[in-house]
Amino acid sequence: GPAASGKSTVSKAVAKKLGYLYVDSGALYRIVTWLALEAGVDTSVPQKIADFSKAVHVDFVVKDCRVAYEVRGEEPGDRIRTPEINSHVSPVSAVPEVRALVTGWLRDMRKLGDLIVEGRDIGSVVYPDSSYRFYLDADPDERTRRRLVEDVAKGFADKDSQDKVKASLMNRDRIDSTRKTAPLVVPAGAARIDTTSMSVEQVV
Ligand code: DC
Repeated sequence: GPAASGKSTVSKAVAKKLGYLYVDSGALYRIVTWLALEAGVDTSVPQKIADFSKAVHVDFVVKDCRVAYEVRGEEPGDRIRTPEINSHVSPVSAVPEVRALVTGWLRDMRKLGDLIVEGRDIGSVVYPDSSYRFYLDADPDERTRRRLVEDVAKGFADKDSQDKVKASLMNRDRIDSTRKTAPLVVPAGAARIDTTSMSVEQVV
């Protein structure tokens, strides 16, 4: 589903209930973006991102009910959730070489155990053969409200920045849905859940 549709919250809860490992695929695109920005790569040039991505190394470690990602021995935490990363991650994740890299990592994780994987192309591209695929959605204003609550809690936004948060979400939706490689789509055969007026528990 699109940004702030409830994927992470619901996936984490379902993984816990089933005793499966939660996998956050967006975090992997965020890590590549973070490292590229740190290295001074110009993210408006796809070839530069593609070349840089060859050198990215991430370790996968099972922790609690999730697959954790370590870069240089530690988890990046909220360093990959800043507004700066938000504004660069969609163009980075549109680069085919980056998608191939992350898709390979995600498919490899099957050896770690049973997985609940969240992300935009999981049911359509990464695991189209999975028997259980869900597309979560919510109307744009409700998604803005949810993201604003999160961003305020993290100190990334103030309460009045609704318009800015909405514009950022809409911009990412546009890039994620129109990119050539693995765009955001409702996969054939997936169950679509409109979570706009549902509680987390109901969606879970
Ligand atoms: O879910 P998220 O907001 O952390 O994802 C960050 C970005 O990564 C999102 O804007 C698009 C990209 N992404 C993707 O293209 N495919 C995925 N499976 C997950 C995320």
